[in-house]
Amino acid sequence: MTKIKRTDPEISRRKFITGALITTGAVSGVGMLSVLGTLRPANRITPDKEPPAEGDILVYAEGDKAGQPVKVSDLDESPTRVYPKAGDVVKNGDPNNLLLLMRFPQGELKEPTELDATVQGTVVAYSAICTHLGCQVNYKDSDGTLLCPCHSGNYDPKEGCKVIGGPPPRPLPQLPIKLEGDQIIASGEFLGEPYTG
Ligand code: FES
Repeated sequence: MTKIKRTDPEISRRKFITGALITTGAVSGVGMLSVLGTLRPANRITPDKEPPAEGDILVYAEGDKAGQPVKVSDLDESPTRVYPKAGDVVKNGDPNNLLLLMRFPQGELKEPTELDATVQGTVVAYSAICTHLGCQVNYKDSDGTLLCPCHSGNYDPKEGCKVIGGPPPRPLPQLPIKLEGDQIIASGEFLGEPYTG
């Protein structure tokens, strides 16, 4: 005789509730992972977008020598555009990483330039990005200053790139540098606040 297996209604009810809770938890977990997965890429900075840091080698940003270390003997008062390079990575993925290297005769760089953060008091590095709204500054041959083409922000590179005209709220920040062998190396992070967008 075939036996009919009866199920206790209370046990069935408990099983249903337990299953429902597990399913809900799983869905919530998947949902949470989705949220985390969505957030993670937004927070990720690729190595080429990392800001300048101690130990980075300064390399030419453009021209035939792009990517090669800059030599002091190649520099003069007209700015050379450079990027920091860490290991094999040129940090050219963020426009804010573009820098200007300038070399002046001994004694021409004055405070508030941080002379201890220059090479031999003659070679200095500044951000190339205007602190007003982020345009690239240019060299003004007629007076040796740096001029922003967007709203005529004007900076004096011999005196810490202080603002001498226009709307920029603060100087172009100086990047501390030193010489290692014949290579110019960043010896720290920006001394002032760069343009942040
Ligand atoms: S962006 Fe340079 S002065 Fe406005």
